[in-house]
Parts: sequence; structure tokens; C-alpha cells
Amino acid sequence: MEPVGAKIAVVGAGAVGTSIAYAALIRGVARTVALMDVNEAKVQAQVLDLQHGLEYVPRARVIGGADPQICADADVVVFTAGAKQNPGQSRLELAEATIALTRTALPPIVEAAPNARFVMVTNPVDVVTYAALKFTGLPRTQLFGSGTVLDSSRLRFLLSEHCGVAVQNVHAYIAGEHGDSEIPLWSSATVGGVPLLDWTPLPGRAPLDRAAREGIRDEVVGSAYRIIEGKGATNYAIGLAAARITEAVLGDEHRVLPVSSLVDDDALGFGDVCLSLPTVVAAGGALQRLPIAMSESEAAGLCDSARTLREMQRRFGL
Ligand code: 2OP
Repeated sequence: MEPVGAKIAVVGAGAVGTSIAYAALIRGVARTVALMDVNEAKVQAQVLDLQHGLEYVPRARVIGGADPQICADADVVVFTAGAKQNPGQSRLELAEATIALTRTALPPIVEAAPNARFVMVTNPVDVVTYAALKFTGLPRTQLFGSGTVLDSSRLRFLLSEHCGVAVQNVHAYIAGEHGDSEIPLWSSATVGGVPLLDWTPLPGRAPLDRAAREGIRDEVVGSAYRIIEGKGATNYAIGLAAARITEAVLGDEHRVLPVSSLVDDDALGFGDVCLSLPTVVAAGGALQRLPIAMSESEAAGLCDSARTLREMQRRFGL
């Protein structure tokens, strides 16, 4: 019996793509999870491995293959295909190979699933998202990047550990580039409803002063490097983060997530670049950025981050 319901297609059967598929299955995000990869043998092996666990997850089916038609009529396509990040290598260094791949690989998938919402995950995700919008001509709401959703969950985890409060009660965003120039939005962050900048440490806990905040920011920015140094790739947290974004779309949740989307109106002073800001994500995709209040230094940091990304776009002729 074929389950009916939402379909997600994950492009790229590497560590990231399969972790997204795995997280989506466990969370019951969609009834059909399609995995696509140019390496047919690898994708079929990954499909088998996932199929063998179907007894233990909400009802779903897993299909896969090398043909873009495997993505046909998907509701959400999550794009993870790209060059692999090696130890010590920055995300931006991956750009050239990945942009070339996006140019050839993405259009046939858009043709197979023209109404899907596209979530770009491949790094450098902001530049890849910008390139993908150019190559496909899709609207900015329909195609967007996973951006700093993962970085924000890293930030929330570290704040939760520091303050001794559950991660679900920490509301804080990383904005800008998913990468070295990203910035934490401290001035709008709250812990259990208390503005983070007014936080009084719980008994026995360290203060959350400027030095502590800078330490946490550095740890967020360095996280991927540390993980890649230790095990060659990051995959589990991005798997959960991308599954969460997909869920927000399929459930028309209007969930606020810091996805990367095109800013081209210059209203924020740094137009024509894809970067992350808290955004309402729903069935229509990345619908609307929140008019979030920022301190002067946060706004300046965001402009610097946009400059870094624009420079990169220029370098790759975008
Ligand atoms: C991460 O931040 C490498 O972008 C990947 O985990």
C-alpha cells in the first residue's frame, strides 16, 4: 500500500542529505521521502538502509535514484549536493565547485517539481541560494536557504547550558552569513522571557557578561570547524534543523526561523544578497522577514556580513 500525503525530496545522499532524510522520517515530516544522488549505487544503499527502519517510524516510504524524476511533484526539495568541506577549509572556499554543480543539477529538479519549496543547504549556503535564485528564476519566497537556523540552535544550546535553563526557553538568533561573519542578535534575545542583556545569573551560575557572550559567539562560529576536525563533517544537527524547516513549510506553521533569503530592496542598507534574518516560514516558503530591533553594533555587523557575501558573489560572477 502506497502512503499518500506530503513528499520531500533530498538531493545528495551524503552525510548531510541522509541525516535530513533520517530526521524527517523519525519526525514523521512526510509520507514519501525521496533521496536523489548521481551515485546510483550509493543512493540505493542509503535507501535500503532507511527502508529497513520503516517499522520504527511514523508511516512513510523511502524511494531513491539518480534521475531527477525521483523528485517529481515533491512538496519540498532539500538541496544538499556539493563539494565536501575539508578540515580547516572555510565554507566560502567551497563556492566555485558547488556553484557550478548547482547550475547544472538544479534546473532539471525544478522542472520535475515546479511547485516545490526549495531549501538550499549546500555551503556556502547564502551564496549558493543567491546563485540558485539566478539559475532557476524562482521567487525568493519559494527558494531559500537553511541559513543560520543551525547556528541559532547552537547559540541557544550554549546559552541554555550557561544559564541553566531549558533550550526551548531560550530565544536568540544568529543573523547574517552562515559562516565566519555571522552575528548574534543579543539585544532581542530572551531567556525564559527575560531580556538576555538583563539576565541575572541563577545561583551558582556564571554571569552572562560581555566576555561570556563573546566566548559563546566564538564557540558558535567555531563549532563546525571543531566538528569537521574531529569527524570530517557535521550532519546530525543540520539534519534536524533542515527537517524542522521542512515541517514548518508542510504544516503551514508560520514559524519564525532564521532562514537565508534574498534581500534586494536595499531597505536594510545592504541589498542584493541572501542572508539570514528571523523570517516567517509557512506553506508559501520564506514569507516575511521580521522587523527585528537591532543595536547599532548588530546592524553594523550585519552590513559587514552582507559585504562579505556580496564580495563573494562578485568573485563568482553572480
Ligand atoms: C555547519 O555549520 C558545516 O555548515 C556546516 O555545521
